[in-house]
Amino acid sequence: ATVEHTFDVGNFSISQLCKPARVITAVNSQLPGPTIYVHEGDTVVVHVINNSPYNITIHWHGLFQRGTQWADGPEMVTQCPIRPGTRYTYQYNATGQEGTLWWHAHSSMLRATVHGAVVIKPRNGDQGYPFPKPDKEEIILLGEWWNRNVFDLEREAFLTGLLVDPADAYTINGKPGDLHKCSGSNRKPATFKLKVQSNSTYLLRIINAAVNTPMFFKIAGHKFTVVGADASYTTPYKTGVVVVAPGQTVDALMVADARPSRRYYMVASPYNSAHPNLPFREGTATAVVEYAGARRRARRPLLPPMPKFSDTATAHRFFTSLTALIRPGQPTVPLAVDTRMFVTIGLGFADCRPEQTRCKQQVFAGSMNNASFVLPTTMSLLEAHFRNVAGVYTRDFPDRPPLEFNYAKPPGNMDATTAKSTKVKTVRYNATVEVVLQNTVLVARESHPMHLHGHNFFVLAQGFGNFHEDTAVKRYNLVNPQERNTLAVPPGGWAVIRFVANNPGMWIMHCHFDAHLPIGLAMAFEVQDGPTPETALPPPPADLPQC
Ligand code: C2O
Repeated sequence: ATVEHTFDVGNFSISQLCKPARVITAVNSQLPGPTIYVHEGDTVVVHVINNSPYNITIHWHGLFQRGTQWADGPEMVTQCPIRPGTRYTYQYNATGQEGTLWWHAHSSMLRATVHGAVVIKPRNGDQGYPFPKPDKEEIILLGEWWNRNVFDLEREAFLTGLLVDPADAYTINGKPGDLHKCSGSNRKPATFKLKVQSNSTYLLRIINAAVNTPMFFKIAGHKFTVVGADASYTTPYKTGVVVVAPGQTVDALMVADARPSRRYYMVASPYNSAHPNLPFREGTATAVVEYAGARRRARRPLLPPMPKFSDTATAHRFFTSLTALIRPGQPTVPLAVDTRMFVTIGLGFADCRPEQTRCKQQVFAGSMNNASFVLPTTMSLLEAHFRNVAGVYTRDFPDRPPLEFNYAKPPGNMDATTAKSTKVKTVRYNATVEVVLQNTVLVARESHPMHLHGHNFFVLAQGFGNFHEDTAVKRYNLVNPQERNTLAVPPGGWAVIRFVANNPGMWIMHCHFDAHLPIGLAMAFEVQDGPTPETALPPPPADLPQC
């Protein structure tokens, strides 16, 4: 089947946190935007009409785009932006994956309000789930809200070289929830309500669409069974808390088996290992779970005890407890590796560029192997690759960091300066690529959510401190490692991923904190063509936006 949508990207006026209404950029005047429901194998057609004042592209986060590489969406990676007042139609297939993914703007910080869910059901519908069919499904989309215009915020951060201010609130399905106080009024911020039937089973499709913040997610009085993550099925995992980094999704079953006469808070609270002193309540988002048919009581909903803001142990336990559900026909982890890389990820500093007019000498810079990634300005990486245009990028992304030191505990005098470049790593079609991602703590001890476009990867192992091959290798899960498109690399730690480069084209791998992408915490893989026409990159659609 073909599923068709029209996305009108434009101004939408919304009042949040009891403040006067203000204009944001959103799709079809909805926050979150429309959900795309498809069955595996369907064709998706989305007509994007840009009525906003900004350049925009839409990225289909986690969808492989095999054969439709030009539709992936990241600005200046696979396409030039859709200019204000123009339109562009994306077309691709939802083939070879099932579960929850999402779409978002991949232009400046617009993703804060331009986003929505993508649900890919099994080809034969709900009977195809590898778990008991739920009675009902709900999308739980976690977001982040700023009282100021996010485009201006990011522009300011760029000019000064500083990082974007923290959000004013977190949201569940676009709503901050009534635990927020509205100063000087007795009004309450909007609250999402989930109505449930006693003893019914709900499939919660939890998406972290927040811009810069991993989240802990709980529902008072209820437990979850995780059955999927990033549109890959997992071995059922029972837990009271779900942890989702920006870009990730978690599918979890929840049985409504609590006392129906009570009401229960659903809470999304921030996790950030870099700022252990912030109080955990800061910005916490709430929604309310209510049982149908129960007599309404005036009592406050029950609040679940939440992990602390900096509770890395809880995050690590959740992230390392997931394994893939082994099913026939599903890809398994390749045992022979063709390309091995050791890549440091983290923050440092770079010299101001002339355009950064309010910058005082140095700017915050993200880097991978000390290369701080800059997007090209004249044409997309994919176009330069396809037309073999020199000078847009270079093929010298290093396989190893330039310096080896104690990444998890650097000496105080370590120079954190990096330089800007557009370096890519070229890999052969169908090569098995293994990447050790080593977090550095030069500037902050943060868990960076690393996202790879165009592929899923297997997560073989993760740990704290410096990566040591001899000890780490013994911990590799080569039997049923979880498959992901986004991985939260432990703060001051490492993770090992493996993927098959079976998608010719240009694929960015980057930190999914929106604050870290424009400052260079990114690199790209150039995957060469395979031997047949079906395994080669097709030419761009004739109407692809031009720069
Ligand atoms: Cu969800 Cu490159 O992004």
